[in-house]
Amino acid sequence: MKMSDVVQFNFEVLVVLQRLQIPFGFKDKSIQTVCDENDMPVEFFLQLVQWFNERENFPQEQLIRGDAEWLIIYLHNTHQYYSHYQIPRIEKEIEYLEKMSGIPDQSVQLMLEFFRGYIREFTEHIEDEENTTFPYILALSDALSGRLSKEKFHARYKNYSIDKYLDHHSDIEEKVFDLQSILLKHLQPPASSFQFTNLILEINRLGNDLKDHTLLEENVLIPKVRQMERELKEQSLHL
Ligand SMILES: [Fe+2]
Ligand SMILES: [Fe+2]
Repeated sequence: MKMSDVVQFNFEVLVVLQRLQIPFGFKDKSIQTVCDENDMPVEFFLQLVQWFNERENFPQEQLIRGDAEWLIIYLHNTHQYYSHYQIPRIEKEIEYLEKMSGIPDQSVQLMLEFFRGYIREFTEHIEDEENTTFPYILALSDALSGRLSKEKFHARYKNYSIDKYLDHHSDIEEKVFDLQSILLKHLQPPASSFQFTNLILEINRLGNDLKDHTLLEENVLIPKVRQMERELKEQSLHL
């Protein structure tokens, strides 16, 4: 099957391609060719596409069997997308609302404060994943494949395991949906405000996307890493 046909069937697949950093401009290349050219496992790409096409069928088991490094690439690029594009865009749109006439009182200002508080929490959350959890998983993968000695790995991470991450892994979509609900129920912009409608839709999109992101982290990444930790323990016992 051609890569361009997969995208034309569901344009949301562009998000997957972007997060896997696969350049567009596929001409008539097949999915296999495009994945091979980018050294990407075709199964991983197809599992994500299948999930995007059939939202009710989350291919959890198949994804767990896949490669942890590619999953981290996907999650990392999703973080980049949120923090460098989607969240600043929403912030700008709220600032724009602030300038708009027709909304009485201080409600937009309060919303802006709420959202900025959220950005701080969000940034802390992803910085922890980027600076602690993901490097740990990559080192674990290196220790399993022999690229890093087990001794070095154990010395570096004697006090860390994936359960530590899960213990404080907070829900980052909840506040986004709270904001959406406040906007919808309590603000009354002029009826013709395209910006306001667009803002609610953008926030809804972010909330849904964050839900998917958490699903990948908690239902694929964590069980996958638990498996890897068990494997490394077994390998270490047989040394
Ligand atoms: Fe994350
Ligand atoms: Fe997270």
